[in-house]
Amino acid sequence: MNILITGSGGREHALGWKIKQSALTDRLFFAPGNAGTAAIGVNIKINPVDFEAVKQAVLANKIDMVVVGPEEPLVMGIVDFFENDAQLQNVRIVGCTKAGARLEGSKEFAKQFMLRHNIPTARYLAVSAQNSSEGKQFMKTLESPYVLKADGLAAGKGVLIPADYNEACAELDSMLGGKFGKAGNTVVIEEFLSGIELSVFVLTDGKNYLILPEAKDYKRIGVNDTGLNTGGMGAVSPVPFADAIFMKKIEERIVKPTIEGLKKENIAYKGFLFLGLIKVAGEPFVIEYNVRMGDPETEVVMPRLKNDLVELLAAVCDGNLSAHTTATDSRTAVTVMLVSGGYPGSYAKGVAITGLDNMENSMLFHAGTDVSDNKTVTAGGRVLAITSYGDTIETARRQSLSNAEKIIFDGRYFRGDIGFDLLG
Ligand code: AMP
Ligand code: GLY
Repeated sequence: MNILITGSGGREHALGWKIKQSALTDRLFFAPGNAGTAAIGVNIKINPVDFEAVKQAVLANKIDMVVVGPEEPLVMGIVDFFENDAQLQNVRIVGCTKAGARLEGSKEFAKQFMLRHNIPTARYLAVSAQNSSEGKQFMKTLESPYVLKADGLAAGKGVLIPADYNEACAELDSMLGGKFGKAGNTVVIEEFLSGIELSVFVLTDGKNYLILPEAKDYKRIGVNDTGLNTGGMGAVSPVPFADAIFMKKIEERIVKPTIEGLKKENIAYKGFLFLGLIKVAGEPFVIEYNVRMGDPETEVVMPRLKNDLVELLAAVCDGNLSAHTTATDSRTAVTVMLVSGGYPGSYAKGVAITGLDNMENSMLFHAGTDVSDNKTVTAGGRVLAITSYGDTIETARRQSLSNAEKIIFDGRYFRGDIGFDLLG
């Protein structure tokens, strides 16, 4: 099969790395990809949300399967576009329909869906500018801090957690007043849940599902989870506190009712589903749904998945996932993200990277990189993910860190403490 992966981050490189290992893969393409994906496939310099350009790339390269990496094309309806185009009828596409993507594209829809299907999540009220006073009343029934979420996609920045009631009211007004553009026309106000978070990944054909290895990601820029939120500074899989009993609760109370709910509501869904969960007093709650894989979680999940991924993805598209089970590597995988100095604020791009060939006994996934004058340069905030296996979190982390030191670029920064809170 010729396979096209859309997107350009560490997630897409890790998916490509895994797909490349399949005997079913002939040629591999990325749109637009990065310097790392260029080394394992062909980069096509188009924007994944330009559906017409994706179509032309699919036809020109005789693509048999498209794997959609990021959420934006799904929320905009790329799967519906493929299904409605006569020339793309025979092309398999891994991703949910526009209706399914509302689980990520609208926080209010996601909350209503969970309520309808009795899926555990924080208490909430959705408000708009017309009834913001009800929102302020609702906040009075909650304890500090207050969770405010812009309903629509806001590039991962749409969640605010003010501690003070008056500040929360002011933030609510500013969100409804356009702080996050149209994404904040509706704001979901939530009860704050106190616990420890993890990410659980599901692959579904809309009827059947497989649970992939779980992971924990580290979102804050600073050691000990301090400072600003980022896209993710590192990840660990497996997650020690996600024991068999807890995973069974997740499957019974969250995975099954979610898949059943999609079926009942006639929402076609073939692809990845990412459950952002929190464990509160031993019980799982949903913080958010995403309709894609996580980044950097993919960089630890793919290395631990022993199955042929292309076989699974074909089964997703063909609706026969029930014929498959997953096999997981028992080792621990830890990924450490190397980022540009200044990130998640402003940072330089086009900075030369050296030492990439010095890596030993780790996997290197490119995120924000590009090729310029035959040299690898930085092209984003998150630049490279280094993943290592180990018998413990500690050994895997040390291995990634020893390689992180060997890769040099001006401003390079990484967290040395990925997994710090999970050490037994
Ligand atoms: P989201 O964009 O929905 O992932 O939210 C960003 C982060 O805000 C999450 O990873 C959590 O750390 C935090 N968060 C969101 N909702 C809640 C909640 N109800 N209680 C506690 N923390 C939350
Ligand atoms: N690492 C979290 C995310 O991909 O949204």
